[in-house]
Amino acid sequence: MKIFYNEKTQSFHLRNDFISYQFSVAEGKYLTHNYWGKAVSDNHSAADYRYADRSFSVNPNSIKGRKFSLTTLPQEFPGDNNGDFRESALNLRYEDGSFSTHLVYDSHEIIKGKPAINGLPNTYVSKDGEAETLKISLIEQTKKIEVNLFYTIFKDYPVITRSTEIINNSNLTIDIEKLLSASVDFDHAHFDLVQLPGAWGREREIERHGISRGIHKLDSKRGTTSHTYQPFMALTEPYTTEHSGDVYGMHFVYSGEFVANVEVDEYRKTRLQMGISPEHFSWRLDQGESFHTPEVVMVYSDQGLNKMSQDLHSLYQHHLIRGEHQYRERPVLINNWEGTYFDFTEKKILSMADEAAKLGIELFVLDDGWFGKRDNDFSSLGDWFVYQEKLPNGLKALAEKIKSKGLKFGLWFEPEMISEDSDLYREHPEWVLKAKASSPSRGRDQFVLDFSQKDARRHVLNQMKKILDEVPIDYIKWDYNRNMSEIGSQDSSIRDGEVSHRFMLGLYEVLEDLITSYPAILWESCSGGGGRYDPGMLHYMPQTWTSDNTDAVSRLEIQTGTSMTMPISSMGSHVSAVPNHQVNRITSLKMRGDVAMAGNLGYELDVTQMTDEEKAEVKDQISFYKEHRKLVQYGTFYRIYSPFDEKDRTSWMIVSKERDEALMYYYKILDRANTLSERVKFKGLDPETLYQVNDSDVHYYGDELMNKGIYIDPLASVDGHGEPMPLGDFRSEIIKLSKVITN
Ligand code: GLA
Repeated sequence: MKIFYNEKTQSFHLRNDFISYQFSVAEGKYLTHNYWGKAVSDNHSAADYRYADRSFSVNPNSIKGRKFSLTTLPQEFPGDNNGDFRESALNLRYEDGSFSTHLVYDSHEIIKGKPAINGLPNTYVSKDGEAETLKISLIEQTKKIEVNLFYTIFKDYPVITRSTEIINNSNLTIDIEKLLSASVDFDHAHFDLVQLPGAWGREREIERHGISRGIHKLDSKRGTTSHTYQPFMALTEPYTTEHSGDVYGMHFVYSGEFVANVEVDEYRKTRLQMGISPEHFSWRLDQGESFHTPEVVMVYSDQGLNKMSQDLHSLYQHHLIRGEHQYRERPVLINNWEGTYFDFTEKKILSMADEAAKLGIELFVLDDGWFGKRDNDFSSLGDWFVYQEKLPNGLKALAEKIKSKGLKFGLWFEPEMISEDSDLYREHPEWVLKAKASSPSRGRDQFVLDFSQKDARRHVLNQMKKILDEVPIDYIKWDYNRNMSEIGSQDSSIRDGEVSHRFMLGLYEVLEDLITSYPAILWESCSGGGGRYDPGMLHYMPQTWTSDNTDAVSRLEIQTGTSMTMPISSMGSHVSAVPNHQVNRITSLKMRGDVAMAGNLGYELDVTQMTDEEKAEVKDQISFYKEHRKLVQYGTFYRIYSPFDEKDRTSWMIVSKERDEALMYYYKILDRANTLSERVKFKGLDPETLYQVNDSDVHYYGDELMNKGIYIDPLASVDGHGEPMPLGDFRSEIIKLSKVITN
């Protein structure tokens, strides 16, 4: 890994064994993008701008001639209202209302390692030599405002991270109306766009389509990342598949409002950008003040989408997730939500815990309904003290009783919310998030607590700490169950345009405090399932509740889409009762288990209602999972068949780092009459290793399994006359491979 600077050509080249990223200073002023892709030699990193007079392009004043224009220059960080007619990366508004920004190169610095971004989540390095950072300083030509671009290249990953800092060195007050974290120009538009849109209960569907002229925008104006779009966008060559071809991805390490743009201009050049959404954002900078954006992870793969996913998983596992649980095997949990909803007593919870312990479950999570006077979702958010009538012996006694059964104890919170029917609201209605002079909308009949106000967030933090200091808690599920609206603050010292970002800074401050004060707790993030499943939250909480939809068939899509960017160790996946509560589908316990066992296994049902047969099956699932969970949670993940490409089947694989162990998951969704099976080809094995299948005496070499494939035999059945027999819908197999040790 090295950052090269060629003084003669004023060009920069960030390179490691996998990627190169090149840009230079054109005409002594303008930062020009040259290349992002597979690693190349450091020879021609200088700009090769194609000078030409193009009608109706305009030419910057200081450059002679008509042959140079900002709108045809591939730029690194385009200013606004300056002759580049494409989307800008920043918009500033000056005191006099003007808004033209010309950014020119001033200086640069190469920094060892990777500086943290204060108050924001970010990828980090912990050892010397893991990364290098280039800081480019740009100056606004007339106003002397400084804009610093930070580029970090990681030694072992095809990844560059980018963020932007602005320092107001002018003698004016300025309003930042837009400040993105990254912008990249490509000199063609032969791309498909891959994105992960969704909704509650069907998060992160994979969509892929060609790009065309105009702007395609994904964003959030909901105060949070939300279910609607993942803050992720990838451009692929049209021929790119899961396992071959180029991919250029951007992923935002932030949990608030974001924007991701892809623009194709009149010359069929492509601009890809990401950052905080400008829609509700306006940040005032007085003289001498600065602002730093969250970072964007830019990932490149020359081996298709699956390799991009693997690199993101690994980067996040080693350089984003932190704390005691970073590499720890995650416990098998039971959550009472779908088993009881709000309707539980201490007796009921203890009987569930009893049964759970017998099955081998390790953690009991008490979900919503234990606090205030919470019998439904109309009340009590903000009143984080035990609901005495429901739990008359208190939380501590309950936790201790659960722990005496050999289980760990976990608890649900939704700290960023306030119910109208709560003591907190009665005492502090001024802590409801709402734009000045507006009437706030309700969502799930609750308001958002204004975390941009220090007193409000401190109040909740203290309430939580009181419980955490008293009750032996091993795990917390941190929920967030509505989108924001009428974003603003009742505190007159906070400008409404700053609230959505100040809210995030407040949230991150509280999370940082909690995870450092209680390092042993395992934190799981949740937002109506996976509505805030983003790299920002992952920096604080190593797990997320992937989706409220626990139906095994729906989960095939949800977990496939989630695997596009998120590590398996972060993916909560639970077995629930049938008919399923979200889609009313009946699937076998085997299939529900086989799907949940491809993530962090949990159960979310009333175990006391299960038959003895079901309990025996669950016990087997748990013991199989415990034997293999290290591989599942920390192995290398492959998508073999995607439910977005194929209607009837899905297949995944997880291979150990040493390639001596693997699990292959195969799911048949709907059966058809009169079919013949086909061989399934495995991925990621060592071609020369001999593998044993399912502890049997059937052995195959890795090259056979990967190139020729095998029939997934238990799915192919014949009747008494040797005729193929339909086996029905919703079936699954997990095939275990282990290296045959020969003497
Ligand atoms: C959200 C979560 C669920 C559950 C409920 C409780 O919807 O996603 O898992 O915790 O809240 O109200």
